[in-house]
Amino acid sequence: MSDYNNTYSSHKAVFGEKPEKILIDFYKQIDNSSPVLDIGAGQGRHSLFLASEGFAVEAMEPSEVGIKQIKELAEKNSYPIFLSQCDLSEFEPRVDYYSAVLLFGLLQILTRAEINSLIKSLYNWVAEESLLFITAFSTEASSFVLHKENDKEIGKNSFEDSNGMVRTYLEPNEILELFPDYKVLHHREYLGEEHHHGDGKMQQHAVIEAVLRV
Ligand SMILES: C[S@@+](CC[C@H](N)C(=O)[O-])C[C@H]1O[C@@H](n2cnc3c(N)ncnc32)[C@H](O)[C@@H]1O
Repeated sequence: MSDYNNTYSSHKAVFGEKPEKILIDFYKQIDNSSPVLDIGAGQGRHSLFLASEGFAVEAMEPSEVGIKQIKELAEKNSYPIFLSQCDLSEFEPRVDYYSAVLLFGLLQILTRAEINSLIKSLYNWVAEESLLFITAFSTEASSFVLHKENDKEIGKNSFEDSNGMVRTYLEPNEILELFPDYKVLHHREYLGEEHHHGDGKMQQHAVIEAVLRV
């Protein structure tokens, strides 16, 4: 986790300031009767956006620096964001269900076992009509080949490098097989723009996007 602490300490918007476009396109379909859960909220770009639009949000983020940065911005803007500094393995929901759960950039850093456990837990955290927002990495990414050549394969299309960093890639359309019980509102897989995170190397992700409804 210290990696995220370091990265977040040196850059105030590592993944950009703006929310992912699928959230902007679909957030109006979130029923506002219960909070939204942002898992791996990072520096809060999605939690803060939804809070600014009047949604109650719970941000779950293990990085102490990430949580502190979200707290500061939430206080500055008087947004009621509930902060849970923990990771998935420790998380206890505070409400009966969440109106939406955000999984932005999360699946690719979890092991296969963690992904399977998350998918099971989600059934207890959502209710009829709840939405799931997901972005993930596909095996079409050039980095997939590099990880396959250089790192230890710890699960299906899942790798751990010498620093313990995990990257898990989904095959084309696999996202739909992982979430078979949800209705698909949006699903797209494409090569992203070349970009870099902070001072990091240029990268081009093969992005999977999905918006699903229970
Ligand atoms: C790639 S970042 C994405 C951040 C944010 N969702 C965004 O899109 O801007 C992934 C985040 O997940 C957090 N994370 C890593 N492992 C986690 C776990 N097991 N449970 C919850 N969050 C985790 C990291 O600390 C990091 O902030």
